[in-house]
Amino acid sequence: MKVRDDLILISSSDRNGGIGKDNALLMRIPEDMRHFREQTVGQTVLVGRKTLETFKDGKPLPNRDTIVLSATPGYGVEGAQVAADLKALFDLLEAVKTRIYVIGGASVYRDLIGFCSRAIITRFDAEWEADAHLPDISQETGWICLDAGDWKDSEKGIRYRIQEYIRHTPQDPHQ
Ligand SMILES: NC(=O)c1ccc[n+]([C@@H]2O[C@H](COP(=O)([O-])OP(=O)(O)OC[C@H]3O[C@@H](n4cnc5c(N)ncnc54)[C@H](OP(=O)(O)O)[C@@H]3O)[C@@H](O)[C@H]2O)c1
Repeated sequence: MKVRDDLILISSSDRNGGIGKDNALLMRIPEDMRHFREQTVGQTVLVGRKTLETFKDGKPLPNRDTIVLSATPGYGVEGAQVAADLKALFDLLEAVKTRIYVIGGASVYRDLIGFCSRAIITRFDAEWEADAHLPDISQETGWICLDAGDWKDSEKGIRYRIQEYIRHTPQDPHQ
């Protein structure tokens, strides 16, 4: 298992890296929802069991191939594949031809950030109480911010910007 060019983390966080509370998102803004849809429709998404359960009727998002991570014995959900651990997940990914988005939640971001080559993070210019957080990508090794994004005002009045990070692979000086 190693960093994959097709594996992209996508998330939204507040100023403190907060992404959720009580198994729900901290904030939904239409612009971010649209951006998420545009990125992920027609692609494959990787999601944790708890986040999947927050989707409408507990079902996978439409028009995307879904792989759910769950080690719960016998767990299954219609319209999705299930991986019980990272080895099973990477075996399933061998057959995937689309881009693959890691869409959370917190434990899935933690487990998979080390294998992602890109990260697209919507930053809200706000602070909320949170019990789920994104790893601080600026503290993770090998990432650089490719695009810090311009601050915009959302319809809801919250400022946000969309940042893009890529994994920086230093050139081997002996090559
Ligand atoms: N702002 C955002 O961008 C964003 C995006 C998504 C989610 N969220 C928020 O994040 C929070 C949920 O995060 P969470 O960490 O509590 O839950 P989660 O990551 O959605 O799901 C956790 C579950 O996924 C399974 N899992 C995770 N890693 C696994 C692994 N390596 N192997 C096998 N199974 C694995 C386990 O399921 P089993 O217990 O069945 O084994 C685990 O209990 C919510 O508040 C949600 O709204 C925010």
